[in-house]
Amino acid sequence: MRFHGLHFIFATAVLAASSSDEKVSVIEFDNFGYSGSYNLVSELNDVDSDKCSCKLDTQVTKFLGANSPMAEEVSVHFRGPLTLSKFGFYVADSKGDWNKQAFYDGSNSTNVTFVTSAGKNSSCLGKALTYADSDGVSKADKATLLDKNTLINSQDEYAIFSSVKCGDSGVGKDCGVYRSGIPAYHGFYGTTKMFLFEFTMPKESKVKKSEVSNYDMPAIWLLNAHIPRTAQYSLDANCSCWRSGCGEFDIFEVKNTTQSTVNKLFSTIHDYQGTDDIETGIQANGFIPRDTESTMVGGVVFNSDGKAQVFLSNSTSFDDTVSNDDVTSWVLKAGTSATKQLSSVSFSPATLTLSSKAKKGSATNFGVPFLNAIFALCLWFV
Ligand SMILES: *[C@@H]1O[C@H](CO)[C@@H](O)[C@H](O)[C@H]1NC(C)=O
Ligand SMILES: *[C@@H]1O[C@H](CO)[C@@H](O)[C@H](O)[C@H]1NC(C)=O
Ligand SMILES: *[C@@H]1O[C@H](CO)[C@@H](O)[C@H](O)[C@H]1NC(C)=O
Ligand SMILES: *[C@@H]1O[C@H](CO)[C@@H](O)[C@H](O)[C@H]1NC(C)=O
Ligand SMILES: *[C@@H]1O[C@H](CO)[C@@H](O)[C@H](O)[C@H]1NC(C)=O
Ligand SMILES: *[C@@H]1O[C@H](CO)[C@@H](O)[C@H](O)[C@H]1NC(C)=O
Repeated sequence: MRFHGLHFIFATAVLAASSSDEKVSVIEFDNFGYSGSYNLVSELNDVDSDKCSCKLDTQVTKFLGANSPMAEEVSVHFRGPLTLSKFGFYVADSKGDWNKQAFYDGSNSTNVTFVTSAGKNSSCLGKALTYADSDGVSKADKATLLDKNTLINSQDEYAIFSSVKCGDSGVGKDCGVYRSGIPAYHGFYGTTKMFLFEFTMPKESKVKKSEVSNYDMPAIWLLNAHIPRTAQYSLDANCSCWRSGCGEFDIFEVKNTTQSTVNKLFSTIHDYQGTDDIETGIQANGFIPRDTESTMVGGVVFNSDGKAQVFLSNSTSFDDTVSNDDVTSWVLKAGTSATKQLSSVSFSPATLTLSSKAKKGSATNFGVPFLNAIFALCLWFV
């Protein structure tokens, strides 16, 4: 094998990403964030007809710095089997302390909107977002709080946005272009931010394996909030900014149903920081064990220096203000950690991939051997 500068870096990243069999309590990405760009959706045409189509803006949206692109507004997504008993969103103030900006605990909430895909189906956008009813998955006519300890089954999903409404849909508007008729809300902003969860991921007991494709694969993840407002699960890559790299961060995710991995929670970034393969993304080293019997509590902290830490720790509290020392000690005391250093090399193969078919916003993986081949060739000639 011949090694060539960039090629070597890429090969190393891929090898490191596959050594995932270490059981840990903290999964850390270092050097998260880079200088890159993506394409926002600029047009959603005839969405309810067979002739529907989408267009991406040819003018790219640039991002730069720690935790980017997840430094942009994000929405928080949940897939069953799962119950959520507490949710907290925090941003750091100038002293580095964490202030709660959004919260849910089963009976009380601030600044959260529960949505689910229970709306009209479109051949290019999939099902539209609606307000979620108290069961998390039915359509409600207005914002409704999830019932305490609501269990959603395999494949079922809901998401949380803030309660700050978007202005009108349109290029250059506060929320960009979004699908008409949906409850459109801002995601959770900030470079230095933290999400906390108290949740369970019990073994699936309600639906059969033959009935769903994501059987017993619970997950909690973040998407650039632009993605679900246009199309989370689309077969047309032009209907969302996902393919061009606006960002996904999988916090706790069962990735497949093989015996050996069904009780392992992995963490994966989907963008172009050191890889051209956005489908596979960058999986951190190590996994956090999924406790199927009892409540788990923890979350993800995005620090100002591009260190992102996913952890489970029973010391986690949902107080209105949490000192940075406390957060540091939850993470430190959680136990063993596995750290993945992200590459400083970035790729923006958006122009290569605009016309390729994509289904995303999810955690499902699709191979892109053809693009990889082109990419490998490009590297060879660098
Ligand atoms: C609801 O939550 C808010 C924000 O944390 C808190 O200030 C308020 O006291 C809570 N109300 C109740 C009834 O628990
Ligand atoms: C939505 O429509 C597409 C194509 O028109 C179809 O493939 C898909 O199965 C539909 N989804 C649902 C949930 O009905
Ligand atoms: C709610 O969250 C949004 C998005 O992060 C933020 O802009 C807003 O300030 C928050 N509202 C409150 C009352 O904290
Ligand atoms: C399941 O996911 C894990 C973690 O990404 C991976 O190591 C394993 O190869 C996957 N198994 C299958 C059969 O895809
Ligand atoms: C955390 O608490 C759960 C029950 O709430 C318990 O099952 C688990 O063992 C605890 N984990 C640690 C590391 O103490
Ligand atoms: C996506 O957009 C590109 C560039 O405008 C276009 O060539 C391609 O046909 C579009 N793909 C689909 C499925 O409409």
